[in-house]
Amino acid sequence: MAIQFTNESISSLSADWLVIGLVESAPLPEAVAQLDETLGGLITRLRESEDFTGKLAATSTLLGLTDIKTPRIMLVGLGSAIELSTAAFEKAMRTAARAISNKDDTRVAVLLPEVENNSIITSNLSATLISSSMIVGSVGQDLYRKEVARYPFQDILVVGTDSTDQSACQQAIEQGTILGESINLAREMVNRHASDIFPISFADRTKEIAKSYGLESEILDENQLKQEKMGSMLAVAQGSDQPPRLAILKHQGADSSAPTLALVGKGVTFDSGGLSLKPSDGMKTMKCDMGGAAAVLGAMTAIARLKLPVNVVGYMGLVENMVNGSSYKLGDVLTARNGKTIEVLNTDAEGRLVLADVLTLAVDRGATKIIDLATLTGACVVALGEEVTGVFSNDEDWSKAVHSAAKTSGEDVWEMPMLPQFAEQLKSDVADLKNIGTRWGGAITAAKFLENFVDDTPWVHLDIAGPAFASANLPHREGGGTGCMVKTLVEVADQFKTSN
Ligand code: BES
Ligand code: MN
Ligand code: ZN
Repeated sequence: MAIQFTNESISSLSADWLVIGLVESAPLPEAVAQLDETLGGLITRLRESEDFTGKLAATSTLLGLTDIKTPRIMLVGLGSAIELSTAAFEKAMRTAARAISNKDDTRVAVLLPEVENNSIITSNLSATLISSSMIVGSVGQDLYRKEVARYPFQDILVVGTDSTDQSACQQAIEQGTILGESINLAREMVNRHASDIFPISFADRTKEIAKSYGLESEILDENQLKQEKMGSMLAVAQGSDQPPRLAILKHQGADSSAPTLALVGKGVTFDSGGLSLKPSDGMKTMKCDMGGAAAVLGAMTAIARLKLPVNVVGYMGLVENMVNGSSYKLGDVLTARNGKTIEVLNTDAEGRLVLADVLTLAVDRGATKIIDLATLTGACVVALGEEVTGVFSNDEDWSKAVHSAAKTSGEDVWEMPMLPQFAEQLKSDVADLKNIGTRWGGAITAAKFLENFVDDTPWVHLDIAGPAFASANLPHREGGGTGCMVKTLVEVADQFKTSN
């Protein structure tokens, strides 16, 4: 799939579809006004009759056109110009992409919108967002189907005018391509079922990717994990026939004395709950429990391809939480890598046990700042719903930096209170900690548990249990893996160069 800039006139463009984003109640941009004239005022009539007003992500298709070379136009609403944000623009473009990607070999041209009264959606940002949205929106959950629902576009044209800065636009397109492909990589990893993606196959994939994009790769196998004394992570892996792995990817974009950003992902390739077995309903989507590790992998790929001038290390803790004769048991007391002991009172609270050991390794290997990502708790989904990521932190400034990156990226996050009383719930009679608290505020007790394993390193924990996996299709997004937080992580890494 190649994306190119063109300033060819709309009427002579040869494509299967022309996508035009229009804001509400504003005069048509010059290029669209000309097109409207060529079409005998059709667009104006649609607006006058209120059949197409430009409401956010509303669409209208014009088919069988003969007055221009492209036979089909999709009008997509961008909503009001003042309210137009990154998230809104992306929603509109992904909606359009999903709607027109139902045929093979489609060539799509997308007009660069001219939005007045809006300082966010610049021409360069729209080129980036158009590119990433076309790439994400035209790929479905079709990995295992003969009859697929979506076809990745064959060609994408971003259509500007003579006054568009071509080289800046082409660079923006490149950036969008990389982001879109990295999001799709994270989605693919989540969408593959758990007999396909397990710790070894996930780790192999990280090695392959490292080779393609010039990342340094290191894989710790179970013996090395034992040498590292990662007793907490190993306990989770114990009940599975699939041995665990810790996959590490390094991007050295600055000199070795520069600070290091560590991205740590929960990579439970399947979460049956272990002996605290999940009921079928809760288990059926648990191939998604490596969504944190998938986001780390996607982000590391993008960071390497964008050649960001920063040092970033991605850690992916890969295990399968299963039941067999060797499963870890309720009442077991584990010794984590940092020497803290943990009483296991629920084997389904496994993500925190995996992260505990990986976080201490990241700290000991010199992380200056840490972000971990995990599909950690159902409680976070109860609190914030399926679309919002929970943010938990031990450092206000670092948390602010992640918030601001999420805002720039158009991803919704919400800060949760890390109050000391939640840590009280984790006191055990027989060990330093227990792995669950009470039912209430479960996302926060989980975060308080993790806090024990980062020392004083500025750390942000992102609970993506809701947004990592979408239960159904919507016009603007496919169900299944979403690739959430990939963009935010890349933005954090991009900002990291100036903030340290
Ligand atoms: N992987 C789950 C959390 C989850 C739930 C992710 C729903 C995505 C969607 C996690 O390992 C888990 O089972 N958490 C338990 C914790 C409890 C036992 C304290 C939960 O949320 O029920
Ligand atoms: Mn679990
Ligand atoms: Zn889990």
